[in-house]
Formats: sequence, structure tokens, C-alpha cells
Amino acid sequence: MTPGPELWTDRLHLRRWTAADLRPFAALNADPEVMEYFPSTLSTEEVRVFIERVEAAFEDRGFSWWAVDTRHDGDFVGMVGLGRVGADYPFGPAVETGWRLARTAWGQGYAVEAARAALTYGFTALDLEEIVAFTTVANRRSRAVMDRLGMSHDPADDFDHPHLAAGHPLRPHVLYRLDRRRWVAGGGTGEAADRPR
Ligand SMILES: CC(C)(COP(=O)(O)OP(=O)(O)OC[C@H]1O[C@@H](n2cnc3c(N)ncnc32)[C@H](O)[C@@H]1OP(=O)(O)O)[C@@H](O)C(=O)NCCC(=O)NCCS
Repeated sequence: MTPGPELWTDRLHLRRWTAADLRPFAALNADPEVMEYFPSTLSTEEVRVFIERVEAAFEDRGFSWWAVDTRHDGDFVGMVGLGRVGADYPFGPAVETGWRLARTAWGQGYAVEAARAALTYGFTALDLEEIVAFTTVANRRSRAVMDRLGMSHDPADDFDHPHLAAGHPLRPHVLYRLDRRRWVAGGGTGEAADRPR
């Protein structure tokens, strides 16, 4: 495995990607239920290119989307991490957090647990001032994760996704924000550790 950064939580291991991840991650991205709020499912080739870009981003800037395994059995459950948002978004440039888990891994608090580790990494190791998250308006589960993380939503920040055509049903998006002050006031999270416990 390529060296760090990697993060550990009570139940999860956030790590760099390996060739063995392509198959389960492609299956996840081909699942219409997981991809309900994305414009389309992804082909295996699209997923392969995506993983390549993610690994290049880790090399270039030290953060990106981590592969996530459960610690108790080492099963791959999906992707959680930090991404760079360009100036073509109304709130960009910015750093976002996000998540995409296999359907079988929903409902166990894994997205929040992994995202807390990613936020801690962003606010400490990367020294970021603010981390945002966004999703299409109807993505209730993803918005619930943002709420659980203590992120705040101001309807004045709602925006149309710049890469979706006018009239596309997924185009209206909500933006959630978390700044360092609010994150510290919330106790940080203390859930990220840099080595196995
Ligand atoms: C968005 C997504 C990651 C949310 O997953 P999730 O498992 O619901 O998220 P959480 O980590 O917050 O888990 C909360 C659920 O786990 C339950 N849970 C069980 N054990 C738990 C524990 N030990 N700790 C916390 N929550 C626990 C909670 O009760 C809650 O269940 P509920 O949904 O029935 O209310 C997932 O639905 C997904 O991958 N969706 C597809 C991809 C996507 O849309 N990504 C976002 C694009 S912007």
C-alpha cells in the first residue's frame, strides 16, 4: 500500500487505494440505489480513472478521498474524505468533505465516524479555516450526515450545480459549512487517531 496519510477511528480505517479496491468500488458505483442522487452510475473504467486521480491528488496535496475499511473484518465499505472545489462553484475555491458507502454499510454510523476523522485531519494537519459539504436538495441521508457533523446550512448559500444543465432535476444544491471556530466549539471530535488503538 502507498504510504499515508491514513486515519484510524474506533471502527474504521481510512487509507490509500489499492488495486484490490477497483472491483468493490466499481460495484458500489454501479448500484443505482447508492447513485440515486448522482447524474448516473459509473462504469468500471470511469471508476478506475477516478481512483487514479484520487491517488494523484494524495501525492500532490496530501489529501483526497480515502478508501474506508471496517477494522473488525477489513471489509471495504466505501469512500470518505476531502476534495478540492474549484472557483467555478459559487463558494469556491474551497475544501469539501463527502461520502459514498456501499448500501450494505449504511445505517451504522460509518459515514459520520469517517467524516469526523477527515474533518479533524482537515482542521489540524491541513490547518484549514473552513470545510464545506454539498449535495442535491433531495439527498436526505447525506444532509443528515452534514447535520450530525455539526455543519450549518444557510438557505442563502443554496446554489445550482455548475456542471448540471438547466432543468436537470439534481441541479438545485444545498451547501453546508463548518468553520474551525465552530468545530473547536463542538469539542473537535477527538475521533481521529493517527495509529491503531
Ligand atoms: C449518505 C450516506 C453516506 C449516509 O449513510 P448513513 O449510514 O445513513 O450515515 P451515518 O453514518 O450518519 O449513519 C447514520 C445511521 O446509522 C445509524 N447507526 C447505527 N449504529 C450507529 C452508531 N454506532 N453510531 C451512529 N449511528 C449509528 C443511525 O441510527 C442512522 O440510522 P438511520 O439512517 O436509520 O437514522 C449513504 O446513504 C450513502 O452512501 N449514500 C449514497 C452516496 C451519496 O449520496 N453520497 C452523498 C453525495 S453528496
